[in-house]
Amino acid sequence: MSGITLSGVTKRFGDTIAVDDVSLTVDDHELLVLLGPSGCGKSTLLRMIAGLEEMTAGEIRIGDRVVNDVEPKDRDLAMVFQSYALYPHMTVRANIEFPLRSRKVPKDQRALQVAEAAEMLDLTDYLDRKPSQLSGGQRQRVALARAVVRRPAAFLMDEPLSNLDAKLRAATRIELVELQRRLEATIVYVTHDQVEAMTMGHRVAILDRGVLQQLGSPQEVYDRPANLFVARFIGTPPMNTVRGRLETAGGTPVVRIGADGVELPGAAAAAAAADGLLEIVLGVRPEHVEIVTDGTPGALTATVEVVEHLGHEQHVVGRLGDGQLVTVRQGSHLPAPPAKSSVRLAVRVEHAHCFDPETGARLG
Ligand SMILES: Nc1ncnc2c1ncn2[C@@H]1O[C@H](COP(=O)(O)OP(=O)(O)OP(=O)(O)O)[C@@H](O)[C@H]1O
Ligand SMILES: [Mg+2]
Repeated sequence: MSGITLSGVTKRFGDTIAVDDVSLTVDDHELLVLLGPSGCGKSTLLRMIAGLEEMTAGEIRIGDRVVNDVEPKDRDLAMVFQSYALYPHMTVRANIEFPLRSRKVPKDQRALQVAEAAEMLDLTDYLDRKPSQLSGGQRQRVALARAVVRRPAAFLMDEPLSNLDAKLRAATRIELVELQRRLEATIVYVTHDQVEAMTMGHRVAILDRGVLQQLGSPQEVYDRPANLFVARFIGTPPMNTVRGRLETAGGTPVVRIGADGVELPGAAAAAAAADGLLEIVLGVRPEHVEIVTDGTPGALTATVEVVEHLGHEQHVVGRLGDGQLVTVRQGSHLPAPPAKSSVRLAVRVEHAHCFDPETGARLG
């Protein structure tokens, strides 16, 4: 049993609250991603799990053992950092073997475990080289092999792929997912890259300014963001979020944006009414906005600012009458409207999200 449970974990550095009352459970054999912008407290949280940083308050359990007062070396965790931290004067073999030596594992067994870890990470042919004779991706794999070799209860990884170029990063991402599956490892993985989080994580914990915003599967946080922060953080291009006044038109709740009105999903309208809100933020992903012909009711009028061509798709950025921007994502087979032309944008209401403009909380 190697799940990890955090209860009320808090870290203050003087007046800065780096981690604010975080409670969550990492399940046994789970790859849980900690995601959030720079400075949100990801590394601090990971370092507290590792025992490298003292907590201001809270409790951490690994398996069924409270580890608050357990030394880092006795927590049975392996950490992998962004900097590979390999010993430059040692061969790849010696680097991988190092944690076994310091645990006084007998020689024969060491050789066996090193061979196995090297095989797993495709390093067998490089065992006699020095780190300086390897590529960045190979060095990263040595760091992973060194973590894997001693089969810890769980792995803690802090942006381990961020020194790699985009292509190698994507390839290593897939290798890591495979490795996790093969080892049935429990992994806490820190990143600020949402693509990494969405593709690798069984679940994703999103942090902002030290506070846990949402914890769910990648699909859950994408489909039902708990608040405006998560809505804007997950998804590329980001979700459109436009502010408007709540009104009723012929008995139907609408959000009035400039001269246009967009019908509201019933549950959100009811929640907004119950909270007595006069304004709301309407959230709609770029793939749920469509350029429609003139005269379509319930659409927004916009002026095309720019069209970005990405080859497989295009992003049309329009500016509404009141200055707010809305991005449309559409297939590259569709005609791109010319810059400065006027377009009508229809929102697929069944996919719209509504948020409280003051608290940012999801409505309905
Ligand atoms: N030793 C320290 N002393 C004072 N403040 C610190 C210390 N370590 C971290 N902080 C502050 O705590 C907050 C969280 O830092 P942390 O390194 O955990 O962020 P992060 O999410 O890992 O960011 P990044 O993505 O840039 O690595 C930041 O505001 C940071 O300035
Ligand atoms: Mg960090």
